[in-house]
Amino acid sequence: MLQHYLSAGDLSRSEAEALLDRAARLKAEFRTNGGGAHAGLPLQGKTLALVFEKPSLRTRVAFEAGMTQLGGHGSYLSANDIDMGGRESVPDVARNLSRWVQAIAARVFKHATVETLARYASVPVINALSDREHPCQALADVLTLREHFGALQGLRLAYVGDGNNVCHSLLLLGATLGLDLAVACPPDYRPDPEILERAEGLARASGARIAISAAPAEAVSGADAVYTDVWTSMGQEHETARRRPSFAPYQVNPALMARAAPRAVFMHCLPAHRGEEVTAEVIDGPQSVVFEQAENRLHVQKALILSLLGV
Ligand code: CP
Ligand code: NVA
Repeated sequence: MLQHYLSAGDLSRSEAEALLDRAARLKAEFRTNGGGAHAGLPLQGKTLALVFEKPSLRTRVAFEAGMTQLGGHGSYLSANDIDMGGRESVPDVARNLSRWVQAIAARVFKHATVETLARYASVPVINALSDREHPCQALADVLTLREHFGALQGLRLAYVGDGNNVCHSLLLLGATLGLDLAVACPPDYRPDPEILERAEGLARASGARIAISAAPAEAVSGADAVYTDVWTSMGQEHETARRRPSFAPYQVNPALMARAAPRAVFMHCLPAHRGEEVTAEVIDGPQSVVFEQAENRLHVQKALILSLLGV
């Protein structure tokens, strides 16, 4: 298993599948025991530090609740608490935390920060979102798809909107697992070419197909899942007004959903802006699986911590 989880492309196909299987077992156990602690409290005495430079609901609570359910503890440190890179350098934060805790989850502005943490930490580091990737989200997303459709190989996912961190991680993990991905983005907001090249290499190995275009209707045509995310990610708020006209034609609304397969699901990592990237009818309608995705954050993040800690 991996030493750190910084990128959704870090997992081999068999590692990703084993993680999903483990998450599914943890979910079943959690449901059987009525949502309490897991048998044997495998992380008793262990602490996960949560170093977060940006706000979070799902990622933070899923890690904290997950640690509690496994018998351990999550220690949340906001930017106000430690001011990483200001009050103290990133390497020093990593070296200090490694003396006290057994793992670090970090939500950062610059992807380089999570890489520096991993370089200097002697404990596993998990990327809890960076400007480049959101690999924990992608794990929950593929678990949701697997639960809904059974198999992932050959499933068609259309991602419509910003070629951002969420899109990058979906491309990498989806390509690893054999998902066909059609991405439709405004021309100035396409996925990073380096990520795309990596995803294309992974797709060649798994048999997945990747298509990038600027045409949402084409991408969504016949898709089994339609995924979108906010037009302006955390840290880009100053670009909101400039982005709005570029993204307006990329809204997921009933007319766009009607082009997908009749069995298609709607996906979003949340938080969502109803009336912008998605209309209320779609996100609150019968095809939406957004809260299943959110629920699965808990189970995949527990599976990830256990695996990184070799438990
Ligand atoms: N989807 C997601 O990561 O949500 P949070 O930003 O609330 O953690
Ligand atoms: N792309 C979004 C995802 C939030 C979970 C952001 O980075 O803000």
